[in-house]
Amino acid sequence: MTKTNKDTKPWKDLESTEEGLINTSNKQGYMLAEPDDLMKEFAEFCAKDGRVGADIGCAYGVATLHVLQQMEKKKVQGKIIAVDPSKKHIAKLQELAATQGLDKQLETRCAIYPQDTTFKPSTIDAILLSRILHFLTGKQIEEVFKVVFKALKPGGKIYISTITPYIACLVEFVDEYEANLKRFLKKQNKQQTWPGEIGDLQKYLKKSSQKNQNPNFFHAMSPAELQQALKKTGFQVELAEFSTRPYPDNVQYEHNGTHQEDAILIAKKPTPVRLME
Ligand SMILES: C[S@@+](CC[C@H](N)C(=O)[O-])C[C@H]1O[C@@H](n2cnc3c(N)ncnc32)[C@H](O)[C@@H]1O
Repeated sequence: MTKTNKDTKPWKDLESTEEGLINTSNKQGYMLAEPDDLMKEFAEFCAKDGRVGADIGCAYGVATLHVLQQMEKKKVQGKIIAVDPSKKHIAKLQELAATQGLDKQLETRCAIYPQDTTFKPSTIDAILLSRILHFLTGKQIEEVFKVVFKALKPGGKIYISTITPYIACLVEFVDEYEANLKRFLKKQNKQQTWPGEIGDLQKYLKKSSQKNQNPNFFHAMSPAELQQALKKTGFQVELAEFSTRPYPDNVQYEHNGTHQEDAILIAKKPTPVRLME
């Protein structure tokens, strides 16, 4: 059932089918109504003098607004670049930032990353990819990692949050995924097709409220294959773990006695080693 979200500021005018999740305008899933722990960590890293962050797939800007608030609170110079293909998302973010007097440190790009827009080499301190990688194939993710690596300054960080196969609507996919993952990590799969690519998501969404709010392609991932791909690109992985959050009942799923709906990774572009003369 679709209802207008009346109580979740600043998203009060926007649609929300699930508590805590705001519908995107372009059927690209949901935006979190509140910044999560990874967004907060990203914001803390960005809110230092002179730092430049980028929020790829920002939607209406939950993470970007949090970064701007932290920059203002700490009175630091810096910038956040928010990227999303939806004009509605970007317009709302600009409006909210302006209303809160936070727009001076905001740059927006209405674009698909990395096809329509990229960043100059070694110019960005931190890049957030929060819940967007599930729209991309493994090959596209490998490409995105290369482009992000190039854009980051040495010592810069990539922050990733994505959706695992351990969610209620994918229960029937878990065995297939785990068999694929074993082959993938042992490199027995010659084409190296990523283990969680699903071509026909609607097949699994028959009863779910997520139906009609997502494209038909979905890529579920665990920390393992993302960590492998990050290392292959040259990143030093600092964190790679399963996580959870208060998802609605129809998303939550207890797997092996724990909740593992999300995969969270933080990785660093190494700083060059300085040789003694
Ligand atoms: C599921 S929402 C996540 C929003 C927010 N980052 C969060 O974690 O709550 C995905 C967002 O990514 C955007 N998006 C999808 N593919 C993208 C791409 N290649 N480049 C930039 N944005 C993209 C969509 O328009 C949508 O707003």
